Amino acid sequence: MPPAGAASPFIAACRGQPASRVPVWFMRQAGRSLPEYRAVRERHSFAEVVADPELAAEVTLQPVRRLGVDAAILFSDIVTPVQAIVDGIHIEAERGPVVVAPFRTKADLARLRPLEPELDVPYVLDTVRLVRSRLPAGVPLIGFAGAPFTVASYLVEGGRSRDHRRTKALMYGEPDVWADLVDRLAGVALASLRAQVEAGAQAVQLFDSWVGTLSEADYRRYVLPASARVLDGLADLDVPRIHFGVGAGHLLSAMADAGADVVGVDWRISLDEARRRLGAGVAVQGNLDPAALFCPPAVLAARVRAVLAANGGRPGHVFNLGWGVLPDTDPAALRTVVEIVHGHGQGSGGAEQPPSG
Ligand code: CP3
Repeated sequence: MPPAGAASPFIAACRGQPASRVPVWFMRQAGRSLPEYRAVRERHSFAEVVADPELAAEVTLQPVRRLGVDAAILFSDIVTPVQAIVDGIHIEAERGPVVVAPFRTKADLARLRPLEPELDVPYVLDTVRLVRSRLPAGVPLIGFAGAPFTVASYLVEGGRSRDHRRTKALMYGEPDVWADLVDRLAGVALASLRAQVEAGAQAVQLFDSWVGTLSEADYRRYVLPASARVLDGLADLDVPRIHFGVGAGHLLSAMADAGADVVGVDWRISLDEARRRLGAGVAVQGNLDPAALFCPPAVLAARVRAVLAANGGRPGHVFNLGWGVLPDTDPAALRTVVEIVHGHGQGSGGAEQPPSG
């Protein structure tokens, strides 16, 4: 596998190195905002797309072609690996993952055996290989996994939850069962990510979307060890590790302590403040509010520039949204964001420049 990086502004920024331009990609860049994705979904269910490497590779490449982003992200889902080893998990439109028989007791843990990626999710690895063979040079592929806490929350709640009451009841009330559950899920995430990297993924993102619901003390006690097992377990592979949560500004330094090279930041705190909390040596990813894409062009442009200004030209910034692209976003607005970010600091020496005004 050729080393990723030299020619990729995305990899350079992940490593905190000066890049030829500020790289940009979008969480959920493949999906319902793109007419070509909706056309595929008219003929195939979400599950069919994920399980068919040709379809999944095509959908992964769609935003690279249309938007000119600096990285692709594997088209799959955070529950795909556990779906392969646990019966009765499916994804419902609008709602997301649903677990028919939720995990509530110690006995349920026996349903979570270790993942054998080449046997359990061969289609995921075939998708990675196909995408790699088709991506333009300089556009790396990001592999991903759901973090133990967020995947556990789906297994315990049975689906999406507003307050995560059952997850927290298990975590606080039966800490040994909880620790065993998240340790098994760490094993699943780690096996999946290692296999994705071995198949050709050049960076990875660990999605801990719902972890912002915890205090820092509870995060450090009940979640960090499992997430650290995933991130530390990738250290020898030498790919950038991105760690992301929503509403997790109070957890940023703890999430970096778990072993991330890049921490994803949502729009609730500025990149400047995020950098203060993270300290040197950790890159940042974010953090345009996805709702800004619904604003008139001049307002959107000003908000993109404000994100760039909050970073202040420092190396180690991957431009992204603070969370995923909303389904009814106009792809033209996404394209505008890419053009503004790519134009930033260009024509005055190449590398990122501090804002001038
Ligand atoms: O472009 C990409 O970012 C890559 C693909 C991707 C999907 N899901 C595709 C998908 C990624 C990285 C994910 C991660 C994921 N899945 C997360 C973490 C990111 C986040 O948004 O917080 C979470 C929490 C899930 C669980 C999940 N899967 C939800 C909440 C939903 C949404 C339900 C809906 O209809 O809005 C899904 C389904 C899903 N995953 C869709 C896509 C494109 C929509 C499926 C469709 O086409 O109907």
